Amino acid sequence: MRTIGVIGTGYVGLVTAACLADLGNRVICADNNRQKIAKLKKNIVPFYEPGLDAVVRKNTKAKRLLFTASLEEATEAAEIIFICVGTPSLADGSADLSAVENVASEIAHAMKEYKIIVEKSTVPAETGLKIRRTIQMIKGQNAHFDVVSNPEFLREGQALEDAMHPDRIVIGVESKRAEEAMRALYKPLKAPVIVCNIETAEIIKHASNSFLATKISFINAVAQLCERVGADVQKVAEAMGLDKRIGRAFLNAGAGYGGSCFPKDVDAFIYLAQQKGYDFEMLKAVRKVNEEQKKLLFKKIEDAIWIIKGKTIGVLGISFKPDTDDIRNSIPIEMVRMLQQAGAKIRAYDPKAMPKAKAELKSVVFCKNAYDAAKGSHCLLLMTEWNEFLTLDWQRIKKALHQPVIIDGRNMLDAEKMNGLGFIYQCIGRGV
Ligand SMILES: NC(=O)c1ccc[n+]([C@@H]2O[C@H](COP(=O)([O-])OP(=O)(O)OC[C@H]3O[C@@H](n4cnc5c(N)ncnc54)[C@H](O)[C@@H]3O)[C@@H](O)[C@H]2O)c1
Repeated sequence: MRTIGVIGTGYVGLVTAACLADLGNRVICADNNRQKIAKLKKNIVPFYEPGLDAVVRKNTKAKRLLFTASLEEATEAAEIIFICVGTPSLADGSADLSAVENVASEIAHAMKEYKIIVEKSTVPAETGLKIRRTIQMIKGQNAHFDVVSNPEFLREGQALEDAMHPDRIVIGVESKRAEEAMRALYKPLKAPVIVCNIETAEIIKHASNSFLATKISFINAVAQLCERVGADVQKVAEAMGLDKRIGRAFLNAGAGYGGSCFPKDVDAFIYLAQQKGYDFEMLKAVRKVNEEQKKLLFKKIEDAIWIIKGKTIGVLGISFKPDTDDIRNSIPIEMVRMLQQAGAKIRAYDPKAMPKAKAELKSVVFCKNAYDAAKGSHCLLLMTEWNEFLTLDWQRIKKALHQPVIIDGRNMLDAEKMNGLGFIYQCIGRGV
């Protein structure tokens, strides 16, 4: 049985740890957030991710999954140590790598023999080099260790499925020993493995997320044109998506991308390019289109209900996407703030994200369900594609609303059906 260390028990760290434990490894997770560790020791997963609590419970019970506030303990016990700490954006768009640096130096202080140190956090190219330098500064030039880049591609909301059945595993290495150890660790997953140097692996992650963001902004730009010429972006995306060279995924026009990854990874990629003397104009346009989507949605609300000041707006969905309670960089949160700034009163409902939203948003009435959010509202705004919003009793919603206006920021609903039910229904890019 191998022993693995995982530093950082957030979405990526805890999912990685639970899956590696489920594959039969002994995994020791460390986090400097003592409250989180205390909860995890009681089998309480501190965020919502479908199915994760059961896998955590099963593996802690089998004593394959352990939690500690001591990074030293995890480092000493493990041969392979995954760094899974956050890498948020700084004001200039670059990634804040201070947690990665702290962990690297703490590992260096704690290690007494050969270790494989894996960067799983999303980091800009050449971070591996800096991790190596940091460790050598502390341990000396002859320190015995390898650095590996093994970026994570899981999606919140389906993280377990993604981690257990990845499309590919990327391993950026600088030694045969590290390559073999990583290949052996992931062998049970039977996924395609790409082995490359560390810089290539780092670029693969940023390029992948930036490309997905590009698809979203592209279809949002096409949606603008659709509205102007009387075309339907849904049909355009469907037809484009059937072309195998293009694919349907990430061609959903709407309020734009948010979340803890795409905005920061696009920013960090643009920043890296700039540092290296390349002006990544294309990605800057992707970011600009995304910024504009929020303003366009705001204008749609204004066009539909006229004066925003003093009106009540029901908001369905607060998390940045469905099946998660993550509200980091959530477009719905930004929309709520824009509407409040314009003088609107907000009644909001989200199936999972309300506890986190309550800590973030002021003066919002948090409602017990969608009908409650619609009550007395001048407009109902759909912001997150939770499945339960697809099957609402629309007659009941209509009765609850002050006036039957629905703005669908995610193109979730059937426009014809909603119009047929007597709603004034607005969505994105369906000019027909
Ligand atoms: N969330 C995703 O969907 C996703 C997907 C792929 C990649 N990533 C990348 O993975 C990384 C982690 O993301 P996340 O969403 O899991 O973040 P997170 O904020 O949920 O978790 C980070 C954890 O690291 C801990 N931590 C911070 N500094 C520490 C330190 N010095 N010692 C020990 N623990 C420390 C924090 O307490 C926290 O629990 C980021 O680089 C992110 O870009 C995230």
